Amino acid sequence: MKKIIVAVTGASAMIYVQSFLELLATEEIIVHGICSDAGEKVLAIECGKNSRQLPAVTKWFDCKDFAEAPASGSAGYDAMVVVPCSMGTLAAIASGITSNLIHRAADVMLKEQKQLILVTRETPLNRTHLKNMLSAHDAGAIICPPHPGFYLKPQNLHEAAMTFSWKIGDQIGLDMKGRKRWGSKV
Ligand SMILES: Cc1cc2nc3c(=O)[nH]c(=O)nc-3n(C[C@H](O)[C@H](O)[C@H](O)COP(=O)(O)O)c2cc1C
Repeated sequence: MKKIIVAVTGASAMIYVQSFLELLATEEIIVHGICSDAGEKVLAIECGKNSRQLPAVTKWFDCKDFAEAPASGSAGYDAMVVVPCSMGTLAAIASGITSNLIHRAADVMLKEQKQLILVTRETPLNRTHLKNMLSAHDAGAIICPPHPGFYLKPQNLHEAAMTFSWKIGDQIGLDMKGRKRWGSKV
């Protein structure tokens, strides 16, 4: 069974991690999670909950504990999704600085040449943000800012977020039976 790690950092747009994990809950997949301290704070502000109340994740790791499984390539994760990804976490990943378990896990994914998807969220973007995105891209990460597929005509915020979650699902090869696509009825 596919095994993925979802990391939550302190950027706005927590609706996307909620939506993505709801999608993962409908799939045959093992999901583990890490949430930064700032991630917990923004999650509480925007969604009124903590990371342990999010769906799909069967195991949460302490973001400060480098002895946990995601710190090693031998843990065998197929993909890692950082959603949302703050500019601080992007900078750490782009420069290879591993000061928490999220940074280390992302570094491991890159060295193992496994999928690393960064749902980078900030606006507007300064030159440092743009340079860090290019560096992370060049190191093998997929930069995937949270833009809904409005051509699929979402009727509310939840549906809009799900159109974006499907895009991440496409990247990591999920089945997604209910996924709407341009040019098809379902
Ligand atoms: C309500 C709130 C919203 C924030 N939104 C963003 C954001 O969209 N993008 C970003 O890069 N930082 C944002 N920040 C700042 C980050 O949380 C801060 O830079 C933090 O150090 C990131 O740490 P982390 O990457 O370890 O989670 C926000 C902070 C708060 C309190």
